[in-house]
Amino acid sequence: MKIALVGATGMVGQIMLKVLEERDFPISKLIPVASERSFGKTVNFKGVEYNIVSIESAINEKADIALFSAGGEISLKWAPKFADQDTIVIDNSSAWRMDPNKKLIIPEINSSELTENDRIISNPNCSTIQLLMVLSPLHLKYGINRIIISTYQSITGTGMLAVKQLENEYHNKEGSMAYNYQIHKNAIPHCDVFQENGYTKEEMKLVNETHKILSDYKIGVTATAVRIPVVGGHSESVNIELKKSAPISEIKNLLDSTPGVILEDDPKTNKYPMPIFAEGKNEVFVGRIRKDFSNPNSINLWIVSDNLRKGAATNTIQIAEYIVNQKWK
Ligand code: A2P
Repeated sequence: MKIALVGATGMVGQIMLKVLEERDFPISKLIPVASERSFGKTVNFKGVEYNIVSIESAINEKADIALFSAGGEISLKWAPKFADQDTIVIDNSSAWRMDPNKKLIIPEINSSELTENDRIISNPNCSTIQLLMVLSPLHLKYGINRIIISTYQSITGTGMLAVKQLENEYHNKEGSMAYNYQIHKNAIPHCDVFQENGYTKEEMKLVNETHKILSDYKIGVTATAVRIPVVGGHSESVNIELKKSAPISEIKNLLDSTPGVILEDDPKTNKYPMPIFAEGKNEVFVGRIRKDFSNPNSINLWIVSDNLRKGAATNTIQIAEYIVNQKWK
């Protein structure tokens, strides 16, 4: 496989290189792409240094698969040009996610939607991926009426600049800001830009992407997304109204046997998921599963995952692995 990696020097791009290496993805040629700021630099893959190239020169390489993680504008402009060369683009930005002609894929849930003819495939938002890894089996078994989500999101989801901002603030140093406010010792209820309806784009991604991936537009979804000074992963407090009553023990067994999900739930031993333990892992962790006594058929739970792994790099590479396994490339 000839693989182009657009955004190879970024937060997600760097993790993609790690995940490709860890999973021994079959690569015959790696083409790392970044902005002109990075020309002359290299990235390391399996102990070999690869020169960063421009996006224009990468197109002509006619890669089998291009993994994009350089932001929405780059994807909008360049993904179709790669697709024209018969390269399959797997895009980590939000650029194509809601395009009715493009698939939005979490391999464990809806990889069967993919066909040999898909040329631009979208990777969902990090918060949506970890949410649906847990909600999809519940929806299949019991049906979901409504979901209320509050997120506690890692600054790594914003990119390198945000990580630098927290480091500077921690050391009391001046520097450029990724957020409107100090993030150190703070919680900012503002992820991505505000929409006319008063919600942020991140909150609406949770609504719209849930509907598209579960192919069910009747589920009520409402969300509040909050940025906190944490690096290991995103956490989500989720209230779910099911269509049927479900014993908590049955829900725990179901989630315990769901591939890609790890149940960590034992109040007696203070066992529950946390970002410091999720960091660097490819799974989604769930715990604090309990009945919501205030509403019939409702439960509360807590979901944590490394947003750069299953929320971005790992999910993208799992899509690439699906393509390889289908022998479409
Ligand atoms: P660079 O490091 O040269 O700026 P992050 O979101 O973590 O900041 O990463 C963004 C990624 O997208 C980086 O690898 C960045 O490269 C890359 N990128 C930004 N603009 C372009 C561009 N015009 N062409 C190719 N890659 C780009």
